[in-house]
Amino acid sequence: MRADALFDVRGLATIVTGAASGIGLACAEVMAANGARVTLMDRNANELENAVGRLTSDGMDVRGEVVDVTDRAGLNLAFDAAARVHGRMDVVFANAGVGGGAGFLTVKGERNPDGAFENISDQRWDDAVANNLSSMFWSIQAAVRHMKPQGGGRIIVTTSIAAIKAESVVGTPYMPVKAGAAHLVKQAALELARYGILVNAIAPGPFLTNISGRKMFDPDVRGYHERVVPMKRLGTTDEMMGLALFLASPASKYITGTQIVIDGGATLGSAD
Ligand SMILES: NC(=O)c1ccc[n+]([C@@H]2O[C@H](COP(=O)([O-])OP(=O)(O)OC[C@H]3O[C@@H](n4cnc5c(N)ncnc54)[C@H](O)[C@@H]3O)[C@@H](O)[C@H]2O)c1
Repeated sequence: MRADALFDVRGLATIVTGAASGIGLACAEVMAANGARVTLMDRNANELENAVGRLTSDGMDVRGEVVDVTDRAGLNLAFDAAARVHGRMDVVFANAGVGGGAGFLTVKGERNPDGAFENISDQRWDDAVANNLSSMFWSIQAAVRHMKPQGGGRIIVTTSIAAIKAESVVGTPYMPVKAGAAHLVKQAALELARYGILVNAIAPGPFLTNISGRKMFDPDVRGYHERVVPMKRLGTTDEMMGLALFLASPASKYITGTQIVIDGGATLGSAD
């Protein structure tokens, strides 16, 4: 089979949440650049307008919906609107999420009281659950309501390597919510395979994005990841595009319930 047929996403009605920046924007861009019709969703109206404007001026078929994925009613309305405009819902990237905040260690290896277990506020815990877990549940639900009657679809959830391994420099609430999202993917995949709905996860390691107030660009944070990641660098968002396209395309049509790690080897351990 030819590569252009294996990776053919032309015309696919696609939604990407958290699409104004970083990994979500890369997913939206690679889909639209290859002929999909894409609705970009984000709570940041200005950045969303910029992203939609840039892709539109490059000739891509995209539109935007300002929505906060922690607002379940708003999320359902935005998904319904996208389905109305596109006429179907083939691919949903449930990607929007927020960073973990302070870990119990700084990147210099010192104890950080802000990240200590006993100091984590209810607000931080609730934010992590709402943005990184409940939002994924609601996004999958909203997608299924459209995909089941139409006879299939693809759902791709952005988790994290924090779903697999504990971390010292990332806030504690981030681990269980990402692990929860990863397990949710398996459960959804089990139930929905019968209906032709494939559900998979992308688990990134450290990527250079705007997450957590652009902390990945901080020289100390960046330097830490460059030391501990076996490939000695962070990922760039264009390096997410191949995996995003793979999971949305015929190339992956017998894959469901899996979580694909993309991390420069970070989950393997440290090396020289
Ligand atoms: N960058 C990394 O190192 C990394 C590593 C592992 C996992 N992730 C995950 O990747 C996903 C994307 O993050 P990113 O690194 O591209 O960050 P980013 O900050 O560059 O982009 C995230 C986008 O999501 C939007 N967003 C956040 N919360 C939202 C909400 N409640 N409703 C609507 N939009 C919302 C933001 O406005 C932003 O445009 C997140 O789920 C994150 O947890 C990132």
